[in-house]
Amino acid sequence: MSFQFEDGKIIGLLGPNGAGKTTTISIISGLLKPDSGKVYVLNKDTEKDIAFIKKHIGVVPQQIALFENLSCLENLIYFGKLQNIPTEQLNKSIEEFLHIFGLEQHAYKQVKHFSGGMKRRANIIASLLHSPSLLILDEPTSGVDVHSRNVILKFLKDYQQKGNSIIYTSHLLEEAEAICEEVLIIDHGKKIVQGNPFELNKIHQVDNLETLFIKLTGTELRD
Ligand SMILES: Nc1ncnc2c1ncn2[C@@H]1O[C@H](COP(=O)(O)OP(=O)(O)OP(=O)(O)O)[C@@H](O)[C@H]1O
Ligand SMILES: [Mg+2]
Repeated sequence: MSFQFEDGKIIGLLGPNGAGKTTTISIISGLLKPDSGKVYVLNKDTEKDIAFIKKHIGVVPQQIALFENLSCLENLIYFGKLQNIPTEQLNKSIEEFLHIFGLEQHAYKQVKHFSGGMKRRANIIASLLHSPSLLILDEPTSGVDVHSRNVILKFLKDYQQKGNSIIYTSHLLEEAEAICEEVLIIDHGKKIVQGNPFELNKIHQVDNLETLFIKLTGTELRD
């Protein structure tokens, strides 16, 4: 699979279950080594400059990665300290993001008492505290209600408008079509198509991204 994204865009990494989205994200973020090939992130080689890359990217994992027995605030302090963010700056960031994601009233609550949407929002904040210029999110809107989803999507648009880049995965194709300038559809670990969703729809003579997705990936069930 070979692809390249420009800075400053929201990119949708799309594909059926098991297509290789999470694997691709793990390789981009240095958690997995590719069997072969080269990967450059922020113009740096993942083999040589992974420390630089890790400092400038934020990765929101598909599975919630928070300590259930800690409060939301304790979790965020923990993840902020892992990034070596100075205390004053960290406190300011936490306050700002708790407000943006509507969690300021719940800062002292243990994460195990959070709803699915609250956990998702807290999971996103944990990857944002060091202000990464590239934010990679693996299904950030999975299992959340429409209110949480709108907050998350509005945040992504605002974050992009501040000059950052975003790669995100979703199974909600209507959502991806609405917020992505570019999509990369993959299947069975291979690139199927890349481009602007509206242009792709036009080229393939379909009305929407979901129809295009089914046309290109078929209807067979995936494991
Ligand atoms: N550690 C591993 N060892 C071997 N195979 C794996 C491993 N992790 C994932 N796979 C396989 O690699 C393929 C791609 O998985 P991946 O999790 O990247 O898909 P995905 O596109 O993120 O799917 P989903 O939409 O379900 O999250 C799947 O067939 C999966 O079973
Ligand atoms: Mg996945």
